[in-house]
Amino acid sequence: MPELDLPQRQTTDALMLAGFWYRALPADHVHRNQLHKATLLEIPLVIGRDLQGQPFALRDACPHRGMPLNRGKFDGENLECPYHGWQFDVHNGQCELIPSLTSDQTLKIDRIYAGSYPCEEQDSFIWVYISDPSPEGAGYSKPSEAPDAAPQIEKISPKYNLAYLQAEMPVSIDHGIIGLMDPAHGPFVHQAWWWRTRHSIHEKKKNFEPIPNGFRMSAHTPSSNSAPYKLLRLYADADSITTTIDFVLPNLRTETIRAGKYWFSSLTTVTPITRSHCRIDVVAAWNLFRWLPFGADLLKFVFAKFVEQDRRTMEMQAEGLKHNPHLMLIDDADRPAKWYFQLKAAHLEAKRTGVAMKHPMAGPLTLKWRS
Ligand code: FES
Ligand SMILES: [Fe+2]
Repeated sequence: MPELDLPQRQTTDALMLAGFWYRALPADHVHRNQLHKATLLEIPLVIGRDLQGQPFALRDACPHRGMPLNRGKFDGENLECPYHGWQFDVHNGQCELIPSLTSDQTLKIDRIYAGSYPCEEQDSFIWVYISDPSPEGAGYSKPSEAPDAAPQIEKISPKYNLAYLQAEMPVSIDHGIIGLMDPAHGPFVHQAWWWRTRHSIHEKKKNFEPIPNGFRMSAHTPSSNSAPYKLLRLYADADSITTTIDFVLPNLRTETIRAGKYWFSSLTTVTPITRSHCRIDVVAAWNLFRWLPFGADLLKFVFAKFVEQDRRTMEMQAEGLKHNPHLMLIDDADRPAKWYFQLKAAHLEAKRTGVAMKHPMAGPLTLKWRS
C-alpha cells in the first residue's frame, strides 16, 4: 500500500536517550587543575583534568548535601567539597575522607560515591558516557562503565587538519536533529551571494539504506550546491567526488567526502542539554588546503556561516514552538525525520522488551525532493 498522501502529524517528545556517549565540552576549554561546569541530559556535571591531563566527569552535586562540587577545591587528584570538606577521587567518585569523623566512628566511607561518568577525550572534545539508568549520584552507586569507546571521526590519511564549531539552539534535541537532516530548508535558510540563491533550487534524487541504529545516504556525487563539494571541485574532477552521509542514534551525523587522494570528513552531533535546549558541535577533519595558511579559516568561515544561519532559524522557530504545535512531516523531504522518530521508538522498544531492535527501514530506497 502506498504511503498516505496526507501530511503526517507528529509530536516531539523531547525524550533524551541515555546509554550513549555525548560531547560535553571542547577539550581546549578544559585545563588541568581547573573545574568546569557542563550539563548533559539535564544532568549537572563538573568536568576537569587530573595532573596527568586525564579528563574526568562527576555529577555536580555532593552526595552529602548537594553542594555543587565545581565550587570545591581540586588538587589535581581529589576534589574537596566546599561545605564539609568531604573528598572524592575524581576518576571513580569514591569518597576518600570525611573530616568530621572521629577515630572511633566506623562509617564505611569507601562505599560512598559522588556519581562519576566515563569520560574520554576524542577529536577536540571531552566526551561523557551517560549511563542508563544514570547513576543517581548521591549515595552508594558505583561508577558505571561504558560498553564501547567514544565515537571518532574517520581519518583517511595520517596528516590532516582538525577544527570544530559550536552553536547553542533553544530547541529540543528532536528539533535540533530533524533540522540537521532536513534537506528542504537549504534554499531558504542558507543563501549567500557567494554560495547560492533560492533560484538554484532543483530536483534531487538520493538513495538511502538502513545501517545499524541509523540510515545512510549512499555514496553519490554531492549536489552541485553543497559546501565541501564546491571546495573539492578546485582539486578534482567533478565525477570523481563522492560523499556518504550517515545518521546513527542518538545524535551522530557523519559525512565523508572523497576526491582522489583528498578527503573531508565531519562528525556533527546535536547534544541534549535540557529538554528545551540543545547544542550543535561540528568537528571536521580534512587533508585539502593543508598547504594553504588560511585553508582552515576558509572552511571554518563557510561552516560558521551555515551553523549561524541554522542557529538563527531555530531561535525563531523556538518562538513558534512555545505554543506546542503539532509537527507535519511530508514525503519525501521529511522522510529522514520520520526515520529518526521511528529509530528512536524502535530503540526504546528494544530496551523495554529486551528483544533486538527492529529497524524501521525494510531495505534501500530512493527519495526525491527539490532543494
Ligand atoms: S555537602 Fe558536601 S561535604 Fe557536606
Ligand atoms: Fe541547515
